[in-house]
Amino acid sequence: MQRRKFIKRSLQGGVALSLGATIIACTESSKKETVMTGTHSPIAICTWGFTKANEVAGIALKNGDNALEAAIKGVAVEEENLKNTTVGKGGAPDREGNVTLDACVMNSNGDAGSVVCVENITNVAALARIVMEKTPHVMLAGDGAEELAYKHGFQKENLLTENSEKAYREWLKTSEYKPIINIENHDTIGMLCMDHNGDIAGACTTSGLSYKMKGRVGDSPIIGSGLFIDNEIGGAAATGMGEEIMKTVGSFLIVELMRQGKTPQQACEEAVRRVVDKNPNHKNFQVAYIAMDKKGNTGSYSIHPGFAMMEYKEEINTRKESKAALDS
Ligand code: GLY
Repeated sequence: MQRRKFIKRSLQGGVALSLGATIIACTESSKKETVMTGTHSPIAICTWGFTKANEVAGIALKNGDNALEAAIKGVAVEEENLKNTTVGKGGAPDREGNVTLDACVMNSNGDAGSVVCVENITNVAALARIVMEKTPHVMLAGDGAEELAYKHGFQKENLLTENSEKAYREWLKTSEYKPIINIENHDTIGMLCMDHNGDIAGACTTSGLSYKMKGRVGDSPIIGSGLFIDNEIGGAAATGMGEEIMKTVGSFLIVELMRQGKTPQQACEEAVRRVVDKNPNHKNFQVAYIAMDKKGNTGSYSIHPGFAMMEYKEEINTRKESKAALDS
């Protein structure tokens, strides 16, 4: 990357010296053309009603960002949203009062990066990209991931906001651990993007279950559980009770079902059915999926009603209420 930047700058410098600034403008515009030659109309989808996050991703795609860049920009909106108590800064802490974040990304080449139990860093999806692109590994945990972040210019931030600390102190009075369906315990943002070239990539980021045990990691940073992309087939992302999603490797399952010919909608429904059939306790937790295939068809499904997917298509950002296994 550095080398590519250097070559690009040297070339631009050389052209400027010999032919003047006009030619630079041409070089820049043809660079833009190269990015935009794809004929696909960009698509972004994400879990829950994260309107702004999805719109940011959609506009980034429209302006020529590739699918991975757009997905990371999109989910960053929620990582930085202090009102969101289950993603990024402002996320609820664990039982000891520490906010720990999990995230992963996958690009259209099938490369993956992931970080788990990261403190003091807000944009953990961007950090997962660093793991993917700058290290020989797929997953880094805790201090190791945090140190990598500082080496790449991320700022140290206190993720526990005044409001989340207040809510935590209130929670300590009973210390009752009971996730509330659709409310505040699992609003993970999972996002799938298709760019002008028809390439698919995604990102998933969360603070996990509120007041989780110290060290607990859910599905979101687990490749194949919280997120999976196969650029030949499509992608899927999950939200909800991570333990249940991990046990059925939900996102990988959905992509494999699409490979076998199921539509994104049918694949999401089948993946939710697996959770429901295997767990008689399923009325007590939420699991929800979104999916997109290579043709740009999308789908979503959940156990409980109340889940929604945002969809940016043909430059329109729409909230789509999902059907649910327990719809009456
Ligand atoms: N789905 C988020 C989590 O369980 O951590």
